Amino acid sequence: MITRYRYGTPIETDAIPQKPAVCEEPVRHFAVHLPGEPVPEAAGPDRTVKNPSLADDGITAGKRADKLFFSYTMAKDDIVLGLGEQMGGINKRNFTYISRCMDNDRHTEDRTSLYSAHNFLIVDGARTFGVFFDYAGIISFDVGETDCDELVVTLDDPNADLYLIEGESPESVVLQFRALIGRSYIPPKWAFGYQQSRWGYRTEEDFRDIARRYRDARIPLDAIYMDIDYMDEYESFTVSPERFPHFDELVSDMRDQGVHLVPIIDAGIKVKPGYRVYEEGVAQNRFCKDEDGENFTCGVWPGHCHFVDVLDPDNRRWFGDQYQVLLDRGIDGFWNDMNEPSIFYTEQRLNEAYGMVDDLRGGELDLNTYFAMKDAFGSLSNNPADYRLFYHNVNGRKVRHDKVHNLYGYNLSRAAGEAFERLSPDKRVLLFSRSSMIGMHRVSGIWTGDNMAWWSHLKLSVCQMPNIQMCGFLYTGSDLGGFGSDTDEELMTRWLEFAAFVPLMRNHSSSQRAQELDCFKNVDAMRRIVELRYALIPYLYSEFVKAALAGDLYFKPLSFVWEDDARCRRIEDQLMVGESAMIAPVIEKNARGRYVYLPEPMRMVRFRGVDDYDVADLSAGDHWVDLELDELAIFIRPGHMVPMADPAQTTRDMDFGRLHILANVGAGETASYTLYDDDGYTRDIDEPEHFHAIAVENGRASCATKQVDLIG
Ligand code: GLC
Repeated sequence: MITRYRYGTPIETDAIPQKPAVCEEPVRHFAVHLPGEPVPEAAGPDRTVKNPSLADDGITAGKRADKLFFSYTMAKDDIVLGLGEQMGGINKRNFTYISRCMDNDRHTEDRTSLYSAHNFLIVDGARTFGVFFDYAGIISFDVGETDCDELVVTLDDPNADLYLIEGESPESVVLQFRALIGRSYIPPKWAFGYQQSRWGYRTEEDFRDIARRYRDARIPLDAIYMDIDYMDEYESFTVSPERFPHFDELVSDMRDQGVHLVPIIDAGIKVKPGYRVYEEGVAQNRFCKDEDGENFTCGVWPGHCHFVDVLDPDNRRWFGDQYQVLLDRGIDGFWNDMNEPSIFYTEQRLNEAYGMVDDLRGGELDLNTYFAMKDAFGSLSNNPADYRLFYHNVNGRKVRHDKVHNLYGYNLSRAAGEAFERLSPDKRVLLFSRSSMIGMHRVSGIWTGDNMAWWSHLKLSVCQMPNIQMCGFLYTGSDLGGFGSDTDEELMTRWLEFAAFVPLMRNHSSSQRAQELDCFKNVDAMRRIVELRYALIPYLYSEFVKAALAGDLYFKPLSFVWEDDARCRRIEDQLMVGESAMIAPVIEKNARGRYVYLPEPMRMVRFRGVDDYDVADLSAGDHWVDLELDELAIFIRPGHMVPMADPAQTTRDMDFGRLHILANVGAGETASYTLYDDDGYTRDIDEPEHFHAIAVENGRASCATKQVDLIG
């Protein structure tokens, strides 16, 4: 059951396509503290200023009575799920999370905000319910950090819709919520192949070289990413003529090899006379304005930039149309970046910092002046004060950016996603974004931004996946191997083993050490893991699309499947992938195996390669499982199966008509599986011919539409 409550007059977010009527009664479960009422004690200190580098001078501090608070007393054994890509574990208790889309490049344990605003959480325990705050502004979720029993949600601005979703289990809450917010984005099938990226490929030759190296090492590859250096002076929608004199030829040569080139698009539009997008944007009045009605200017990669006011539907369409220049050149995938939007500096903030230097120059710095000067420069980027300097046109109303901050990245990627439906009506286009909000999941995926080559970030990625998917973003992944700092062969191998199941399997980095897979000593192990990923694509793609169609999850916490098993509620390092397989990735340095908890008897298949595996039927309970560095295990549920195909160098070259069925079906037992499969780009996803029934009976597999045989 879903109930909608309204507070004040919220700004429309378009997160929910069809809204139920507003319920006039007071919200159930929560205590509400309206603006002007005393602040609840459990709210504790103002969490929105928890991280000093995000200090929001004036707007929050000292004005707490202007906010809207919701509080709920959690039972000792309640767990809290959701909140999308936020830091921490699957269970979000004992920390505070703030939805304030931020370009944060160090995801340390104390980070309260990352790039997205995923305002949906589930309380599961004494009572089970979900709550979604449909709200464009800054919001914090103190999930028992200040007072370990209290969940306190604080909205900076007292205008929001709240949806209360009641169900018997977290899974039923998620299913209802997902039905409410609409179907998740489905990328083309090639986006399930292995993808190589690095901030550092600069020239045509660099891209040809990467493709060549992967082919020489016989490691499957479907895409290579173009980071900002492909552009002309970091101008979005341009290609550097010096470094890419034969761009069209490059795109088509890569395409002939089955490799897609995926360029990055940045939010900031460089202020430069002669740059078409800038000129057109100025002439057509597309940019956000400052207080005086001038185009707002700030610094990002290219230097001075303007931001397109994508909250206006007309501008959204105009921005989306810009992708045409690259679609016309054969590009069919994009990643949208810096769209929180990230601000490196404004002239106002720079002048303050320069002023301080001028004042202090020549003198002796003491404790106060030293730190003041450091802070003046340290707080230049993404300074909350700068987000109050510009305005949007929201249905003819001038709205200051900070009130609608979390809508920006969402609408920028929405502009792209909606454009692709117009500009590429017959073919899906790959799209994922760094910043997002619920609603954007209908047109785009997300990646989790600038992580590090740290074991803790491998673990973080495992925990982020199900929570992100609960918020609707099924197509997601983290930079595998780690974006920042240097990876090593062991971490890379273990990360690859987990990423073999992650929808977006992209190796991306900016580190000193190269981390393309052929740079490591045991290239054979790397190849075998990627081959295994390709072999699993029939299952992974089928489970992904079925989850999108059903509004279900592709990655599930174990508690979603074994609701009555108390152990499962606390397991954060094992996940269900689709309906048949559980994974238990090794995420610890120097480990040569791990304990795995099986809620029911399962068949373990331990792979060293597609054709090199051993099978063991394990009883329910705890097991130590040996897993050498190049070994990866999946656990198949009783009565279930995993269809596989022969891998190839690209998804294009695979034969999806011929499948091998890995099953956990005993002698005399039968099982069935619905396989989803299509041409990989069609937009009419739910046509019945895409669904294929596979049966296993008497030790044989059968299917009317595919050639299948039983293995294992
Ligand atoms: C941002 C992105 C990262 C990209 C870099 C350069 O940090 O998160 O993925 O490589 O910008 O474009």
